[in-house]
Amino acid sequence: MTTDSLSNLMDERRTFAPDSGFAAAANVDAGWYTAADADREGFWAAQARRLSWESEWSSVLDWSDAPVAKWFVGGRLNVAYNCVDRHVEAGLGDRVAIHWEGESGDGRTITYADLLREVSKTANALVSLGLRAGDRVAIQLPMIPEAIYAMLACARLGLVHSVVFGGFSPTALRSRVDDAQARLLITSDGQFRRGNAAPMKANTDEAIAGCASIEHVLVVRRTGSTVEWTEGRDVWWHDLVDGQSDTHTPEAFDAEHPLFILYTSGTTGNPKGILHTSGGYLTQVAYTHHAVFDLKPETDVYWCTADIGWVTGHSYIVYGPLANGATQVVYEGTPDSPHQGRHFEIIQKYGVSIYYTAPTLIRTFMKWGDEIPAGYDLSSLRLLGSVGEPINPEAWMWYREHLGGQRCPIVDTWWQTETGAIMISPLPGVTSTKPGSAQRPLPGVGARVVDDAGVEVGPGGGGYLVLDKPWPSMLRGIWGDEERFRSTYWSRFDGFYFAGDGAKYDADGDIWLLGRVDDVMNVSGHRISTTEVESALVSHPSVAEAAVVGATDATTGQGIVAFVILRGGQDAEVASQLRDHVAKEIGPIAKPRQVLVVPELPKTRSGKIMRRLLRDIAENRAVGDTTTLADSSVMALISSGLNPAE
Ligand code: WT7
Repeated sequence: MTTDSLSNLMDERRTFAPDSGFAAAANVDAGWYTAADADREGFWAAQARRLSWESEWSSVLDWSDAPVAKWFVGGRLNVAYNCVDRHVEAGLGDRVAIHWEGESGDGRTITYADLLREVSKTANALVSLGLRAGDRVAIQLPMIPEAIYAMLACARLGLVHSVVFGGFSPTALRSRVDDAQARLLITSDGQFRRGNAAPMKANTDEAIAGCASIEHVLVVRRTGSTVEWTEGRDVWWHDLVDGQSDTHTPEAFDAEHPLFILYTSGTTGNPKGILHTSGGYLTQVAYTHHAVFDLKPETDVYWCTADIGWVTGHSYIVYGPLANGATQVVYEGTPDSPHQGRHFEIIQKYGVSIYYTAPTLIRTFMKWGDEIPAGYDLSSLRLLGSVGEPINPEAWMWYREHLGGQRCPIVDTWWQTETGAIMISPLPGVTSTKPGSAQRPLPGVGARVVDDAGVEVGPGGGGYLVLDKPWPSMLRGIWGDEERFRSTYWSRFDGFYFAGDGAKYDADGDIWLLGRVDDVMNVSGHRISTTEVESALVSHPSVAEAAVVGATDATTGQGIVAFVILRGGQDAEVASQLRDHVAKEIGPIAKPRQVLVVPELPKTRSGKIMRRLLRDIAENRAVGDTTTLADSSVMALISSGLNPAE
């Protein structure tokens, strides 16, 4: 988001009242807020009854060991049974679960009955590898159906999956596999990207070389490229899974049985393994998917464009939609392959009615031109969603007009890997929406904006977003690091969860999210820590010191700008070498937009880098207050040495 659009956002006054027809048929009404306020635990118990439990809980919430919550204490369920079997048992086996669209136009239609067979075969295969409930399984796969089968097979067996985004480097995968001590890695030979087959197994081989915890690598054949093979360790998916029995009896697990770990960037170099459990997580993803997307499973075609490597894919491709028996589109490829109308073509082809994407993609569509969506029939759409970063009002209005035909409600959904599910969002058919505001916590959720001292600010006031009540899909911890869990989220304000986002209330009390307040950048809706990129930079032999900031970027929200001090002399190629080095160390998503070579970095007397001043330079602004610098001449030195062409 640019500084300009941020100030627009604060002056934004437009509102859009719900359409009366939409409101009349909506899944929720304003009474949900009052019901949840009157009896919060009763409200969540009612939401939990969306699921099938083998045995019911004895109490809804145990918060006695705060900040580690227990929800639906003593309840037992099987997550995969809830996402698959029960729909087939209810006679819905012929309903399409997944319209899978391959990048090259190949596709598969997977009904709930098909899904049950595939998940059962996969579960039997995992059992044959000796995996037992509680074991960790790492998954790095492209957006192919096997990724979903693998996740659900883990859930079915009580195995804890750790999905690693396909774009992450071998080093990043390695640290995640090690941290979770995964016994199995599921990957593919390669993946298609813009018409080309890119290797995947070669990267995973590099990642796990000499890695003691991994016993087997299960490999899906996707591109047909040749791969290296380690006998005894590597197993082809088609050799192991295809021949398995397609029936498998699920076993129920405790509501607090771990479901998955998902790594996300924090303010230090080490990613955090966010731990989610079963009953509360599934309850909240199913509830929010029903309420926020107004899902009508008999008629809607839902499409969330995220990758399953991120939490959005976990909660709103796999668990929420499938728990609700939705029919959805899953797309393997990039939005511009083979042409820039690809998403609109898919919406038209499948009659997509609910479309959930990120502001960065909306701004990319804007850049590509209005005539592209205008060339397709988008009349099937009836609801649009946004997630990942604050959506600037211009993008919101464009989304409403060019995809939504001025008729679709837009839900701007605020949440995080840690929250597991949507927390703040308009309710379609209920809320009068405002371009750029996520507005109100959902029924059952508690959020407020507080000042430095933890005191709630008044209308028009700004500060930090906190969550003031436990919620069912809340993280249960950071894998292997309880202390970090407490210090990161629970020590900033007494009794509140600190989200790391700045926010403000408008005069109506609606919440506007203003971006991260910590050293976490948001690039195209992906969270990347400044320290992680800095450590990657200093691991390069030419770099003595590095400081990284997120600078506003019109398309990606923020762009990564790195300031580096070199060891030795200048090298004309060094900026591009360092950009490539970071991409190799972390993954292409972390590649700096710019690398600026500087003679010094601005530091306080205690040695802390003043990123605020670097951000001023990166955003071409006059440099702000420098009085706390140890050496006040440093900024002039930095500015004078910069090549204005960069
Ligand atoms: C951070 C969480 C939630 C799934 C995708 C990202 C930012 C997310 C919004 C929104 C303003 C948003 C926040 C948050 N964010 N959605 N609708 N409005 N900001 O998950 O990687 O865990 O990142 O994304 O800064 O803290 P994540």
